[in-house]
Amino acid sequence: MPVISFASPKGGVGKSTSALLLATGLTAAGASVTVIDGDPNRTVEGWATSAAEPGFRWARLPSDDDIIDAIEAASEATQFVIVDLEGTANLAMARAISRTDLVVIPLQASPVDARQASRAIKMVMAQAKELRREIPFRMLFTRVNPAIATRDEKEIRSQFIEANIPALKTALNERAAFRAMFTHYRSLWDLEDDSVNGLTKAKANATEFVREVTQTIRDLRTAGQEGVV
Ligand SMILES: Nc1ncnc2c1ncn2[C@@H]1O[C@H](COP(=O)(O)OP(=O)(O)O)[C@@H](O)[C@H]1O
Ligand SMILES: [Mg+2]
Repeated sequence: MPVISFASPKGGVGKSTSALLLATGLTAAGASVTVIDGDPNRTVEGWATSAAEPGFRWARLPSDDDIIDAIEAASEATQFVIVDLEGTANLAMARAISRTDLVVIPLQASPVDARQASRAIKMVMAQAKELRREIPFRMLFTRVNPAIATRDEKEIRSQFIEANIPALKTALNERAAFRAMFTHYRSLWDLEDDSVNGLTKAKANATEFVREVTQTIRDLRTAGQEGVV
């Protein structure tokens, strides 16, 4: 079953938030999910242990020697495995990525973030080379102003197209509702409508993100079966 890893050396770009949105979105759609939490701040673990019903299984990223077994066991136990990775290239990250079907690299639409994100891409590519296989990845714009596409976002998107760097069409907007998940320890789908500003729009945004990620995985599978990848 597919393994999706969130990776970027830069903190604060929304790895844990996006991982939690994907986990809770898939859960709300009826899928079984394990999140493997490699964030030293234990963001997803903190949420899952405080939530009344997290809806997904979770585990800490184990020691380097046990990472591959942990991911394989999780992918046998549940339909999706989501790995929240932190920090720069290290053995843990290399091993997790070697068992990943899709690496999502979140970035904010700023030139500084784009440079940091390119380090994450290099890491994925180095790992792919070592394994002699493709490791598909997609950039994910996060914390984007929902009202206007900024000049920076447009500029970075066109640079990505020029450099053949694939990005998800869906960007995650900057929304209070995404922070409210951590205040109330509830998923978007369990928050009360009147307790959070813009909840309906946040749910629509998250649902589209979940849909595009699952569609991307399906497309990659089809391409793989046809020998295109
Ligand atoms: N789309 C978003 N909208 C609003 N706040 C966000 C969004 N994504 C992340 N944040 C906030 O930004 C901070 C860093 O996000 P986090 O997911 O922990 O990043 P990372 O895991 O990459 O360090 C957190 O306070 C989080 O609530
Ligand atoms: Mg994090």
